[in-house]
Formats: sequence, structure tokens, C-alpha cells
Amino acid sequence: MAEILDGKKLRDKIFEDLKIKIDKMSVKPTLAVILAGDNPASAIYVRNKKKTAEKLGINSIIIEYPSNISEDVIIKKIEELNSDKDITAILVQLPLPVHVDKFKVIETILPEKDVDGLTSYNSGKLFLGEKPYVYPCTPKGILLLLDEYNIEIEGKHVVVLGRSNLVGKPVAQMLLNRNATVTMCHSHTKNLDNIIKTADILISAVGKKIVGEKNIIKSNCVIVDVGIFKDESGKVRGDVEFDEVFESASYISPVPGGVGPMTIASLMLNTVELSEGSRKLGR
Ligand code: GUN
Repeated sequence: MAEILDGKKLRDKIFEDLKIKIDKMSVKPTLAVILAGDNPASAIYVRNKKKTAEKLGINSIIIEYPSNISEDVIIKKIEELNSDKDITAILVQLPLPVHVDKFKVIETILPEKDVDGLTSYNSGKLFLGEKPYVYPCTPKGILLLLDEYNIEIEGKHVVVLGRSNLVGKPVAQMLLNRNATVTMCHSHTKNLDNIIKTADILISAVGKKIVGEKNIIKSNCVIVDVGIFKDESGKVRGDVEFDEVFESASYISPVPGGVGPMTIASLMLNTVELSEGSRKLGR
């Protein structure tokens, strides 16, 4: 029977420590979030980020644009935020409207203010096995959760489902840097079931049901479910059929309440880390 990887509990513990740290800071961190377009999920995520930041004593501003905003306006705003000493962290909420080049926009963020760790500088550092200013939020949260439960990573076979820049690629690289053997799977992977069966740790970040009855996981597999979507009845679900794997897995992160709270905890940790760094750099 699996033990639950409780993201809410760990998030609350992180926030308790973080609040004490922020209270002692003479200059509070300031997070700027750019929200462009009318994606309803993004609007909820951004509101939650602001609310959480405020609870912890982090300043935050949201810059909202309609979906027909030009790329140039967003880029100019980021340049302005880059040179504003009071802004210590910048986040561009994804997805951006389709006509906007997200790579160009993200690349405009100064690496030392890039709270998502998505610029080529920060992701390059990660892929070289060096230290970026910060690690991407969801992957960082996943590793914090695994470490909290003392789950061994070194030498383990980790199967990552999904190859996004936000989750799949960076989490695979972070685990590789921790000496795991990593297999990345995606929509073109053949014999997926056979690969899943070999996983000591399974990280699923697909956003649709992928591990169900027909997949048999290895006994004592650790399951981290990053996926989140609504099924036909409107119920929030993860990629993995929780009930199907619960008996044979050793650990499983629930949806909701697993990785989601860890992503926001990591964002707050990153915001504080960047702010501390900016003072060290004298900016
Ligand atoms: N959209 C969904 N998740 C994320 C995230 O972690 N960062 C950003 N910037 N956008 C997102």
C-alpha cells in the first residue's frame, strides 16, 4: 500500500520557515507577473500566486494584457522590469497568445530575475550540471517532495512521461544530475507500457490519463503525478489512476494536493532566493 507524498503538508512547512525569513528581510522581495490573454486557468494560477506572495510578505504586481497585445509591448515591459531595482523576480505566465514568440519573450528576462529558471542562461547552466540562479518551479518541487520522504534517487531508473520545457526536460536533467538513470517518454515512444513497468520512480507530466489498468507498474514504484485535468464529469484528475496503482506503489503523489502545492512553494522559494542574490550582487 502506497504512502502519500503530501505536497500540502510540505508546502505549509516551507511557508512557515519562509515567512520567518521574509519577516527578517529589510527589503522585501517583489515578484512581477505578466499575464497576457484570457486563459481562465492562467488567471486563477496568477491570482493564487499573488495571494500566496502577499500572505508571506512578498510584494507582487500583476501586469495584465489582452490577448491581442503585441510582442513588442511585452518585451518593452520586461526590459523596464529588468532595470527596475525594486523588482527582484519576473514571471511570464504561460501559455502566451499564439502570435507571441514565447522564447523571445522569456529570453528578454534577466537571468538573475528569471524566477522560473526558463531563460537559456539558467536552463543552460542546469543542462551543464552547474548551478542556475534558480531551478524551474515544478521540477524543484518534485525533488523537494522526493527528498522530504527520503526517496533515494541515485542509481534509480526514473521514467519521465512528457518532454515539456516546464517540467519533463528540466526534471529529467535534475534527476540525471543526481545520478539517476533517466528514460524520457513522449507521444512517439513505442512500447510505453513495457518501459513504465521498469520504472523505480515514475514521473508523469502529460495532462491526460496515461497510466491505467492496462499498465502494470513495478512493485514498490514511486509515482509522482504532475498531470492535472478535468474528466468528462468535471472532476479534477491526474495522469495516473490512483486506485489502480495504490496497492503496488510504495509512494504516490495525489492530484490535487501533491505536486501542485509544491510548484507554488518553489516559486516562493525562488522569489526569495533571487531577492537575496540581488542584494549580494548589489543591485
Ligand atoms: N504555466 C503553467 N505552469 C507554469 C509555470 O510553472 N510557469 C509559468 N511561467 N507558466 C506556467
